[in-house]
Amino acid sequence: MSLETLHQDLDQAEQAALASVEQAGDSAAMDRLRPEVMGKKSPIRQLMKMLGGLSADERPEAGRVINEAQARVEAAFAAKDAAMKEAALNQRLETERIDVTLPGAFPLPLGALHPLTQTLNEIVRIFTAMGYDTATGPEVETEHYNFDALNFAPNHPARDSHDSFYLPGGGLLRTHTSPVQIRYMQNHKPPIQIIAPGRTFRVDDVDATHSPVFHQVEGLLVDENVSLAHLNGTLTAFARAMFGSDLATRFRASYFPFVEPGAEMDVQCWECGGKGTGCRVCKSSGWVEILGAGLVHPNVLKSVGLDPQKVSGFAFGMGVERIAMLRYGISSIRNFYENDVRFLRQFA
Ligand code: DAH
Repeated sequence: MSLETLHQDLDQAEQAALASVEQAGDSAAMDRLRPEVMGKKSPIRQLMKMLGGLSADERPEAGRVINEAQARVEAAFAAKDAAMKEAALNQRLETERIDVTLPGAFPLPLGALHPLTQTLNEIVRIFTAMGYDTATGPEVETEHYNFDALNFAPNHPARDSHDSFYLPGGGLLRTHTSPVQIRYMQNHKPPIQIIAPGRTFRVDDVDATHSPVFHQVEGLLVDENVSLAHLNGTLTAFARAMFGSDLATRFRASYFPFVEPGAEMDVQCWECGGKGTGCRVCKSSGWVEILGAGLVHPNVLKSVGLDPQKVSGFAFGMGVERIAMLRYGISSIRNFYENDVRFLRQFA
């Protein structure tokens, strides 16, 4: 064995290894090639066995060239391996690319505020502009807050379980937002100026104008020397903002246990302009009732420890569904709760 033969064999083995690296077409081929080219048993390393046939002073040189050849092959393999991995990654990035600037696959339906929410927002906006704070109270009430403190007589028919939802553990679902008046006055001193929107409950079968769950907005103002004139001015301003500035308003005497005197407020019909002939909004009366109101009853003030000789106030309450139905000309309250998008879309 001569150094020359070794050089020839080494050269051959290196060329063969480089050629097979060159030819490997995909990463599977590279994986198959790896042990053969890189491993301990690679043809180039095998040539180490021939060192024994060389003279002692030839061996170091021979070992060095074998190692160098192996290193060149490994470098070629590693370079090709890296290039192939990068190409594969690039291809994945290309094929799996998501173009976030493309429009969605379907038009996303755009929601809108529910007509009740829009109506409530408008009511709140108008009173907020007049300086009212917004207060809330619980939907599960006690008889004290829902009736007693509001001056309901012990035998008042509204207390009947045919009208109110009583709960097994005591208490009831509030039948109106008026109990918020009591709760607020217990925790705040006059001057008081609040509205209290919220959900209310009554034992009613569903028909065109009734629902067991509905919404109200309560109002309460308590201060010194509050009179019917203040009530009149406030609610007239509200009605004009809500229904139209050129419409007349009127108060009719009415009864609610927690106010004295009590009244209902009508707005001249915006549909027929008050003429009333054959109008479905005002049922041909020329007037539309929109709320109940009055001066806070002395017994109500006393129930929260206020002195009716020193302070007075007015209160009012309105149904959000009713106002929304009047405002949009909706004939059945059911429409609000069925969530038929063909209905809801009209208010978008
Ligand atoms: N709570 C009454 C109802 O549910 C509405 C009402 C009337 C509220 C007169 C008031 C008021 O504050 O003064 O029918």
